[in-house]
Amino acid sequence: MKLGPLQVAAGTVALRPIRLRDAGEWSKARLHDRSHLEKWEPSAPGSWADRNAFLSWPSQWAALRSLARRGQCLPFAITVDGAFAGQITVGNVIRASLRSAWVGYWVSSKIVRGGVATAAVALVADHVFTVGGLHRLEATVRPENTPSLRVLAKAGFREEGLFRRYLDVAGGWRDHLCFAITSEEIGDGLVPRLVASGRAEYA
Ligand code: ACO
Repeated sequence: MKLGPLQVAAGTVALRPIRLRDAGEWSKARLHDRSHLEKWEPSAPGSWADRNAFLSWPSQWAALRSLARRGQCLPFAITVDGAFAGQITVGNVIRASLRSAWVGYWVSSKIVRGGVATAAVALVADHVFTVGGLHRLEATVRPENTPSLRVLAKAGFREEGLFRRYLDVAGGWRDHLCFAITSEEIGDGLVPRLVASGRAEYA
């Protein structure tokens, strides 16, 4: 399954399922981007180099795929002009009367500020509200993460409140702002809205 493509300033953005053979590009980007990524990501045991080594991708890929097979997660690679450029993951998919999930993302420092993450969020949101049958999509962001706050504002998410000491990130319990959007707020879709605003074009 492929979502997109959408044309933004940085190039042509598409989403596709993560692959085992993403190991090389994934590891290269993440080892290069430690200072860009580590301060926003959940704390984890082991060094950055070990956790993001080529050989640590197969187990992460397998764990995400296993959750995806059970319908609990949608793990996508973000590609720009066909090349691996980051990840966007819909996680903790709950069905029944909640029908909710969270979304998280990162984009290589080499192509930031070009509209890639906003396009990826719009593509994934439209997918989960249509094919995915969800009612609510949530994103939690550290108040200091200006670029990510901007992504969610551009995509059309609404701020719901502050979660105190919510998540163990970069070695400490960090406050997070909670943003969300529900199916009633989607209208004709976030992608059409992004295109109408001039921030993206259909490729
Ligand atoms: N100060 C102010 N604004 C900034 C700054 C800054 N330092 N850096 C970027 N921006 C703005 C950009 O100008 C742009 O806004 P604009 O279109 O109005 O000019 C916006 O932030 C970024 O929008 P995009 O270009 O769509 O996003 P991008 O592809 O650059 O990716 C992302 C943003 C994903 C946050 C990237 O910077 C990244 O990977 N950061 C590290 C990991 C991370 O923080 N992930 C998000 C965690 S929170 C979550 O997942 C819900």
